[in-house]
Amino acid sequence: MDKKKFEFAYEVYDDSSKLNEQDAWLLNEARQVTQQAYAPYSNFHVGAVAILENGEVVAGTNQENASYPVGTCAERVLLGTLATLHPKVPIVSMAISYNSKEVKSDHPISPCGMCRQALLEYEGRVQKPIRLILGGMEGEIFLIQSASLLLPLAFSSSELK
Ligand code: THU
Repeated sequence: MDKKKFEFAYEVYDDSSKLNEQDAWLLNEARQVTQQAYAPYSNFHVGAVAILENGEVVAGTNQENASYPVGTCAERVLLGTLATLHPKVPIVSMAISYNSKEVKSDHPISPCGMCRQALLEYEGRVQKPIRLILGGMEGEIFLIQSASLLLPLAFSSSELK
């Protein structure tokens, strides 16, 4: 029997004033774009904004539906838009934030399992890691060097060929 373990390192910042200029800007954009979320059922408004290698910026927000499972997370709305408007262009960094009338937005949230899988697929498509900047409207910020770090033992395209 063999035991193996995963470990991953990420950076934690007290607030956005400690980030570099581009990361602070991107997080601020993600905070602002939460206003475009359509989240009448959860009241949990998520915003994601990515800066691409070619300098373009793409945003996504969660879009809910009266038939709850039809709703889509901000990250996957972003990825669909990005892959359509700027196919094959790597993402340098993606900031994710949220706002809610019901809970305090004072700590980072991280992408749900389905979005982790979708982010991993995009990293694989363009062969570049996506840096994640995770933060609420205030409080601590997490910086993660690749979305793949959030999905150990992932299922990926390499299994299919
Ligand atoms: N949500 C996102 O958009 N991204 C995440 O990373 C976590 C959850 C959305 C889905 C749903 O509309 C609402 O937040 C509450 O789960």
